[in-house]
Amino acid sequence: MTMLEKLESAYSTFCSELENLTTQADVLNLKSNYLGKKGQVSEILKSLKDATPEQRKEIGPKANEIKTKMTADIADKLASIELAEINTKLAQNKIDISLTDSVKEKANFHGGFHPRTLIRQEIEDIFLSMGFEVLDGPHIDTEFYNFEALNIPGDHPARDMQDTFWFKDEKSEEGNKHLLRTHTSTIQIRGMLDRKPPFKFIAPGTVFRCERTDASHEMVFQQLEGMMVGKDISVANLIYFMKQTLKEIFKRDVEVRLRPGFFPFVEPGFELDIKCQVCSGKGCSVCKKVGWVELLPCGMVHPNVLRAGGIDPEEYNGFAFGLGLDRLVMMKYGIDDIRHLQSGDLRFNSQFGDY
Ligand code: PHE
Repeated sequence: MTMLEKLESAYSTFCSELENLTTQADVLNLKSNYLGKKGQVSEILKSLKDATPEQRKEIGPKANEIKTKMTADIADKLASIELAEINTKLAQNKIDISLTDSVKEKANFHGGFHPRTLIRQEIEDIFLSMGFEVLDGPHIDTEFYNFEALNIPGDHPARDMQDTFWFKDEKSEEGNKHLLRTHTSTIQIRGMLDRKPPFKFIAPGTVFRCERTDASHEMVFQQLEGMMVGKDISVANLIYFMKQTLKEIFKRDVEVRLRPGFFPFVEPGFELDIKCQVCSGKGCSVCKKVGWVELLPCGMVHPNVLRAGGIDPEEYNGFAFGLGLDRLVMMKYGIDDIRHLQSGDLRFNSQFGDY
């Protein structure tokens, strides 16, 4: 075999060996087998010293050509192995960024507003748009704000209308014991003492009564007090604001009826009932089978109450109402038991708001 043939055959075995290699280490091995100091090509070239000048002229460039080709082939092979390795790694470490169903469920589960909060915010917005202020007051209050100032003196039988949680604080002055407010009417007094007529405000909040619970009674519930004081206010003003509010809440005209009602802090006093929205008036546990629900005691503010709030009843008058917020929530969402509202049961809560 001539040297030229040897070179050619070395190149062709090199090519077929290279083709089968899959790791960079093997390729580098092959490289040193052929191009290294003791590699096949180098060995062939070493024997050049025994060749004639003509042979050298022929073989020299050929040998260089083969060396260059081998080097290029090796570089190509190394690059393609590297690429293949990267691709296998990518395939192995593939991250699936789409959510599984269970993760989706968790991701979609976030808190939401309690139906009470939803209604309260809605009513606040309605009244704010009609120019009312929104006031707040303490849960623990005194006999004065809860009863005395509201025209319910100590011996008044009306105190029995609202079973009260009393505090056993001996230090408090006689006639001014602490209690958990039984209604938001406490804020009528606080509101009047703080401002000059004309004014109108609402005051939503929690109230407490020592009562037996049933489908329509809770010991802890929500009311929303409203009061408007000015000159020449009449029952017509009261009815207008009430109807307007109910219409906005229920998004339709709701049937209402007024009955005379007694509350020491209003004169005349009324009970505003609405047609039961749970059973459409047919009779259910919420309306106690009568088809109507007491929603809103109201009336014209009693002169004694105006006086207790520092307002001259000769000059000003006004109306007040105490909306049962929980009843309204029940009506709006068709809830048949008030106890669900405080249950904290997610099966109930998650039906509302933004869960
Ligand atoms: N505070 C009364 C109650 O809780 C409701 C009420 C408020 C009545 C305002 C008339 C006027 O029973």
